[in-house]
Amino acid sequence: MPSSFEVRTSTGSYNVQVGRGLVGELLARQPDAIVMVDERLRDRLPANLPRVISLPANEEQKSLEKMAGVILALRGLKAGRDTHVVVIGGGILQDIGTFVCSVYMRGIAWSYMPTTMLGMADSCIGGKSSINVGGLKNLVGNIYPPREVVVDTDFISTLDAGQTVGGLVEAVKICFARGYDAFCTFDAEQARYPLSAEHAERLMLQSLTVKRWFIEVDEFDKKERLLLNYGHTFGHAVEAATNFGIAHGLAVGMGVIAANAAARDAGWLSPKGLEIADHMRRHMIGLVRSANLQPDAAIPLAKVLDKFESDKKHRKDGYRIVAPQGDGALALVSLPRNRESLDRIAAGIAEACQALDWPLAA
Ligand SMILES: NC(=O)c1ccc[n+]([C@@H]2O[C@H](COP(=O)([O-])OP(=O)(O)OC[C@H]3O[C@@H](n4cnc5c(N)ncnc54)[C@H](O)[C@@H]3O)[C@@H](O)[C@H]2O)c1
Ligand SMILES: [Zn+2]
Repeated sequence: MPSSFEVRTSTGSYNVQVGRGLVGELLARQPDAIVMVDERLRDRLPANLPRVISLPANEEQKSLEKMAGVILALRGLKAGRDTHVVVIGGGILQDIGTFVCSVYMRGIAWSYMPTTMLGMADSCIGGKSSINVGGLKNLVGNIYPPREVVVDTDFISTLDAGQTVGGLVEAVKICFARGYDAFCTFDAEQARYPLSAEHAERLMLQSLTVKRWFIEVDEFDKKERLLLNYGHTFGHAVEAATNFGIAHGLAVGMGVIAANAAARDAGWLSPKGLEIADHMRRHMIGLVRSANLQPDAAIPLAKVLDKFESDKKHRKDGYRIVAPQGDGALALVSLPRNRESLDRIAAGIAEACQALDWPLAA
């Protein structure tokens, strides 16, 4: 498999390169760039870089209120219309970089090097930014792709189990959303924590080339790309109900198991679909269990249902979830807003907790 490919968008295409030891090359290619880096990773870059903005990677820093400070830092380093910014970090640095580069002098060029598994496997392509406002997560954002994406899998060596497995959950979700063949190719790789940089290289190339398809057919999130929310309605409810006591990706993994159980119990699946959904369930259990992590406290079922109910993506007449249908392909479906549906959701969550050996509380 080639280690680089192009992503075509309505505003031009950009190259994505995946490999090891690429950070030096990227910096050498852009000797005059301003480097915007996660402060935790500053020491991994040469000490003598001329212009660096080092930022903490936390949700507060990713707020609209903090953007003026970042823009002024660019100004302080004399960024002009022809300045190139190299952004190095996880999803938080990506969101900040996308946003400020898109508005600084009405838009300046940038490159992105993701350093978390989520960033490498998923968010680094697609060009989206999501910025918090007044404590509300990801309320505003835009689409402003970088000129190039360079994935250096050497960065994974310092990621913990939750971050590693969480990113891999997003990767397998992308492959499953594309279809059973793409899922089987990923499944054959036996992704587990811990993971070597070489193994990660193959996995990242697979998930990114599959994600490219979604971006190219549905750049603005109108149809196919919505399938990438698989596991997320359940996952977000679990994250919120546990006060984020479970890493995002692990909660999504649990959500995938719950969505498959709900689809099975609703009778949506053919015999072939049941087999495929069960294959994904086994894959997800093995993957999430490899992180060997337990939630901080028992999952409070009633609170999870409450959060599920109040998800803004639901419609007046139905709960919207992404789940397998028929022969196993994913679809965005609507469940009637009634007691029976909520019971089915509750049963799915309970089943997922049991499968992962996570304690459940009423
Ligand atoms: N724009 C998008 O398309 C998109 C998609 C998904 C998520 N997001 C956003 O991304 C954020 C989550 O991003 P994330 O999980 O990639 O990470 P992050 O940027 O939130 O970083 C998480 C933690 O990992 C640390 N870290 C980063 N790289 C490391 C490395 N190589 N070794 C050790 N520690 C490292 C960071 O300092 C931080 O403490 C959320 O705010 C989410 O909303 C954006
Ligand atoms: Zn996610």
